[in-house]
Amino acid sequence: STEEMEQRVRTIKKQLGTKLFIPGHHYQKDEVIQFADASGDSLQLAQLCAANHEAEHIVFCGVHFMAETADMLTTNQQAVYLPDMRAGCSMADMADIYQTEAAWPILQRLFGDTIIPLTYVNSTAAIKAFVGKHDGACVTSSNAKKMVEWAFTEKERIFFLPDQHLGRNTAFDLGIPLEQMAVWNPHSQTLETNEPVENIRVILWQGHCSVHEGFTTAQIDHIRATEPTMRVIVHPECSREVVAASDDNGSTKYIIDTIAQAPSGSRWAIGTEMNLVNRLIQQYPDKHIISLNPYLCPCLTMNRIDLAHLLWSLESIIEGKPQNQITVDEATTQLASLALQRMLKRA
Ligand code: 13P
Ligand code: SF4
Repeated sequence: STEEMEQRVRTIKKQLGTKLFIPGHHYQKDEVIQFADASGDSLQLAQLCAANHEAEHIVFCGVHFMAETADMLTTNQQAVYLPDMRAGCSMADMADIYQTEAAWPILQRLFGDTIIPLTYVNSTAAIKAFVGKHDGACVTSSNAKKMVEWAFTEKERIFFLPDQHLGRNTAFDLGIPLEQMAVWNPHSQTLETNEPVENIRVILWQGHCSVHEGFTTAQIDHIRATEPTMRVIVHPECSREVVAASDDNGSTKYIIDTIAQAPSGSRWAIGTEMNLVNRLIQQYPDKHIISLNPYLCPCLTMNRIDLAHLLWSLESIIEGKPQNQITVDEATTQLASLALQRMLKRA
């Protein structure tokens, strides 16, 4: 039963003490997040893993790229596990390392040595290593502006992987006109623009988050028509049109902080992952909060991690046969760490 499973998780947590660390991303289910030693957005969780030198076992309740990052930021004495290997990220999968390696010389021919690559942390370790090798850095949604500003002090152009929306929204906020941005189509290996290429300053990999792409301007129009006093806040993984039509936008952490500080009685439509929105609804009964998407918007891969998988992972550690360890090879780790450290020292 659920109670038995919960009790067993508690017992194992007590038994392992600080040898065990369970980070949980804000998009995780309640049944999992209740057992997290720390919950946070992807940046906070990466920082916490980097700072933890005590835990021998890190059971990462999040998605695959986050567990890879945790492995790269921890020591060789620390092992990172993902309770369900199917917890991937469709956005990270959209930037394939072979396509990226093939794109780079074409971009070099178009633009010479004027480009710096940046990758959203929602990417594979191999992509982070590619970026690290070419003097670039990682970004997350909470430091994207700072990192894009930094990148423009290094080079004239940025190559932003894999989320075109976060790249476009961030560059737009920094005053770069949309005409100076172009999408890189990894299937045709071409730059999609009608502008002379020399005008392009931001090259956006054609990737997206299927959860955040589910928010539309029609949903915002509906809120405006039916709930004129409601404020709309969305994640910058939403499209430019949605971000432009909203009242406010920011990372997962920014959304949480904004709602926490909002006055009692305020009304909000939130455009981000469902588990988090539901948790905010429960946490702040004095505020009127709804999901911007009435059909809800779970991240299916985040939801792969449930109580049963968490317990299974913990049992395997107790039995001395840990399952689902995530390891990134040494060569990849070295290069990817360059990209991660360039971010962490500015985050
Ligand atoms: P943040 O945690 O950086 O807001 O990212 C959102 C997300 O989609 C995580 O997968
Ligand atoms: Fe990936 Fe989007 Fe899910 Fe985050 S919410 S893990 S970016 S698919």
